[in-house]
Amino acid sequence: MANQQLTDVKTLRARARQNIEEGAVTSTYQADRAAVLKMLNDALATELVCALRYRRHYFMAKGLESKSVADEFLVHSNQELEHADRIAERIVQLGGAPDLAPDTLSGRSHAEYVEAKSLVDMIKEDLVAERIAIDSYREMVQFLGENDSTSRRLLEQILEVEEEHAEELSDFLQDMCCS
Ligand SMILES: [Fe+2]
Ligand SMILES: [Fe+2]
Repeated sequence: MANQQLTDVKTLRARARQNIEEGAVTSTYQADRAAVLKMLNDALATELVCALRYRRHYFMAKGLESKSVADEFLVHSNQELEHADRIAERIVQLGGAPDLAPDTLSGRSHAEYVEAKSLVDMIKEDLVAERIAIDSYREMVQFLGENDSTSRRLLEQILEVEEEHAEELSDFLQDMCCS
């Protein structure tokens, strides 16, 4: 890449004026935009299902003398919601529309919505969901490669948080001696 020449100013300026309605998506965008939008919408569905599952667990764990775990469920739920917002924002930036239709949400999500009865089962289900998210984000990062580095960086940042979530859940399980 060292001897690759930078585009001259005149060409850059002329190119930027073409298809101006495309906003942030310029002619040098290299990824398959439809595939990226589909992928991001699947990730969005996953985040929302995870936010809902964690919220359910937060409210249901409250009565079980498990305040610290419940509090963590709420923190995770809010972080998944934050991830959903960032993904939706990127979808719009790429000229797409975030699919928030509740009827199809759980079918499109990679992770499942499992209510679980005991606190241990809640933690286990959340850990499984995080592990699913980790694997699918890793695959998405590889798929994007150098073709859409903004989306890739976003997913890498989210992946990092999902790994932290998984670690925290696994610590909880170990403390309760049932991993
Ligand atoms: Fe997330
Ligand atoms: Fe997570």
